[in-house]
Amino acid sequence: MRRARATTVTAMLAALAALVALQMPARAESPSELYTLNCWGCHSANARGIPGTVPRLAHSMGYFPRIPAGRAYLVEVPGVANSPLDDAQTAMVLNWMLERFSKNELPPGFKPYTAAEVKTYRAHRLENVIETRRVLARELAARGFKVAAPQK
Ligand code: HEC
Repeated sequence: MRRARATTVTAMLAALAALVALQMPARAESPSELYTLNCWGCHSANARGIPGTVPRLAHSMGYFPRIPAGRAYLVEVPGVANSPLDDAQTAMVLNWMLERFSKNELPPGFKPYTAAEVKTYRAHRLENVIETRRVLARELAARGFKVAAPQK
């Protein structure tokens, strides 16, 4: 019987080792860690931005997905499109930011960004970021949604 128990213990240890091996590579950074490492420097902990340089995202960014071009803009903007994050990480961090910083401004029934969607939008380069943002801000204002003031 001693032998049988030893076999069971060995099998359990092997199973445990396999589980640990599975878990290790899956330990990716959380969205808040991704934000801190890649975005925080410009957007700050509370997404207030830097007056005159970086617009406030808090209580503002959630308005953009109310129109299709605005939904695309949140990915096309250079700080997002050119970030070192892959498409899945980008979708994850954007969804986390929207939920955390601008939940009340989101359209009803908002569908979170997917990696495939990020891939599509990301391929499109904005010719003029400031002008694109201005046009979107105007379109949103006409619908009663006021995004944060531009940085310049
Ligand atoms: C070097 C500074 C910088 C970094 C780093 C940065 N951003 Fe930005 N971000 C800006 C500026 C400036 C704007 C305003 C648009 C523009 O001029 O590019 C902006 C705009 C945005 C917008 C659009 C909101 C709006 O109101 O225009 C989103 C969404 C955004 N950033 C997300 C991110 C995410 C996510 C990261 C990290 C992966 C990030 N940014 C990293 C500077 C930065």
